Amino acid sequence: MSKSVLFGIMDIALTLIITLNLLVISSVSANSEGDALYTLRRSLSDPDNVLQSWDPTLVNPCTWFHITCNQDNRVTRVDLGNSNLSGHLVAELGKLEHLQYLELYKNNIQGTIPVELGNLKSLISLDLYNNNISGIIPPSLGQLKSLVFLRLNDNNLTGKIPRELAGLSSLKVVDVSKNNLCGTIPTTGPFEHIPLTNFENNRRLEGPELQGLATYDTNCS
Ligand SMILES: *[C@@H]1O[C@H](CO)[C@@H](O)[C@H](O)[C@H]1NC(C)=O
Ligand SMILES: *[C@@H]1O[C@H](CO)[C@@H](O)[C@H](O)[C@H]1NC(C)=O
Ligand SMILES: *[C@@H]1O[C@H](CO)[C@@H](O)[C@H](O)[C@H]1NC(C)=O
Repeated sequence: MSKSVLFGIMDIALTLIITLNLLVISSVSANSEGDALYTLRRSLSDPDNVLQSWDPTLVNPCTWFHITCNQDNRVTRVDLGNSNLSGHLVAELGKLEHLQYLELYKNNIQGTIPVELGNLKSLISLDLYNNNISGIIPPSLGQLKSLVFLRLNDNNLTGKIPRELAGLSSLKVVDVSKNNLCGTIPTTGPFEHIPLTNFENNRRLEGPELQGLATYDTNCS
């Protein structure tokens, strides 16, 4: 074998090794979304085993049931409505930067809405209705510039409706009925078109807000 052929083979071998290394590195970083979802799985109780296919050793979560990815293998949907889940949401959900649909309605999820959900810049739909979620509606949700559907009804949420939400021009549907919210109902921006029934059954929520005339609930924090 001539020297130049030998060097040629070594060249190809080296290129292969580098390519393989890059593949390994990129699949590891892609699976940070799998890690985030697996953290959610560990935080939930799942008596019906709907999360059984969520195997964190796979290169990405795109073959898991109830998960949808785009062409770049980034998670765009989590569809776990009506799945008999209990337990808590996790901050790691905020890492799914291409997530468009977070569907967790009709479960028995407790705890609070993680502030980090405000990082989900692509989110179109946040459906957490019919759970047992407490705490406040995080003002950070006012960063969700793509949000169209915000359904938080039938939970145990307290505090005010964050005024930050009034700045979301894409928002079309808001339902916060059947919670424990206080303060007044916003009327500006997207709230101009939300029916009052979507605010019903909040003992201390007053309104709609009349600019300068409403009595504000000063005990509301
Ligand atoms: C939900 O899970 C409970 C156990 O925690 C079980 O008894 C019940 O049958 C499940 N409900 C449905 C609709 O699967
Ligand atoms: C809802 O969560 C609270 C704790 O935040 C708990 O005390 C209550 O039992 C839960 N309700 C249901 C129906 O699971
Ligand atoms: C709402 O939360 C309070 C405590 O913050 C709890 O006493 C109550 O049972 C909860 N309501 C429901 C329907 O779970």
